[in-house]
Amino acid sequence: MAEATRRRVPDGSAYGRPEQHADYELTQVGPRTPCGELMRRYWQPVGVSAQVTSRPQYVRILGEDLILFRDKSGRPGLLYPRCMHRGTTLFYGKVTDEGIACCYHGWLFDVEGRCLRQPCEPDGGRNLDVARQPWYPVEERYGLVFAYMGPPEKKPVLPRFDILENFAPDEEIRAYMGAFGATGDTSMPIAPYSWLHMNDNVMDPFHVYVLHSTFTGVQFANQFAVMPRVDFFTTDAGVCYSAKRVLDDGREYDRISSWIMPNIMSVPNPIDINQEKSNMITWSLPVDDSHFTMATASRVPKGMQEGLFANGGFRLNGKLWHEMSIEEHQDTPGDYEAQAGQGPVSLHTEEHLAGSDRGIIMQRRILKQQIQIVAEGGDPAGVAFDPANALVKIRSGNYYVAHA
Ligand code: FES
Ligand SMILES: [Fe+2]
Repeated sequence: MAEATRRRVPDGSAYGRPEQHADYELTQVGPRTPCGELMRRYWQPVGVSAQVTSRPQYVRILGEDLILFRDKSGRPGLLYPRCMHRGTTLFYGKVTDEGIACCYHGWLFDVEGRCLRQPCEPDGGRNLDVARQPWYPVEERYGLVFAYMGPPEKKPVLPRFDILENFAPDEEIRAYMGAFGATGDTSMPIAPYSWLHMNDNVMDPFHVYVLHSTFTGVQFANQFAVMPRVDFFTTDAGVCYSAKRVLDDGREYDRISSWIMPNIMSVPNPIDINQEKSNMITWSLPVDDSHFTMATASRVPKGMQEGLFANGGFRLNGKLWHEMSIEEHQDTPGDYEAQAGQGPVSLHTEEHLAGSDRGIIMQRRILKQQIQIVAEGGDPAGVAFDPANALVKIRSGNYYVAHA
């Protein structure tokens, strides 16, 4: 990284600068890529349960196009879209109690890809048991449908998160998917850049002070307009930051945020710092190398309005983010502008990581270590094969620091 920088001409002219490129080890997520293999060892959300119906839908995740549906018995299914017979898409299929029937010649597949019927063949198909439409296992939890796209013999237990367990009667789960404005402004279901931009952002407490608080105005809580004292620390399977600030009233408060292998974050409430424990888990989900989306499951008061913090709660002259002009975006950039501004896939060889990037350096180091472990046949950090070990404890929250 530094090497490419050093080769620049001494007067800093843009002329003759070396070619730059992404850190492909972390940005390529398709099948058979190192990071793609790592990602495939974890359950990844692919849909919101309530939106997975008998109407087949395309989902694109980790560079693979798949068909997601729910059969009329209520089971969700995730199949390779090209029918194994002669390759038309199951997008036009008809969902039944038993599975999905291809529109072309009616081959019927269940949610695990078993071929149940071939109507044009003698006896409805004599060799059904040798036919199998490629499929992935799915499970539902926290209002999301999760898929496991890795090697079947390595399938871990779908994890639980302590902050999403044991609901009080007046609480409920809320799940949504979308890159930006997912809470009420669904103008951008998928964002046109790498998952790593958002993943970096999670362990970057300093941009909260600049981008969200002092550059143009307050986009989240007022209290973030104070430079924090920051520590980073590793956890069992991730990194946390602690950002301490002394508030106007003299109290000190500590904002703890978490990143969990390989693409999970738990961020404390960014609008109301009096909400102590974080109430949400979010996946920064690679759609492919240069697109991502997010899936969030959050614990909310029953009946809470949608739009808890559309575009980080930020409106300009009453406008939602997608209603703003280019000039208004220039005048009031937020996460989308900063991250999309890094390009479809950032050029990591020309970065100049500094002391404030320590959390990002830690994250990337862990990701690379775990990519290596998977490449050597091991199991990556944070996967559990016994339900007794599948509870992830989350530290994230807004905490007042007690001084003796
Ligand atoms: S292409 Fe699907 S049944 Fe023929
Ligand atoms: Fe941000």
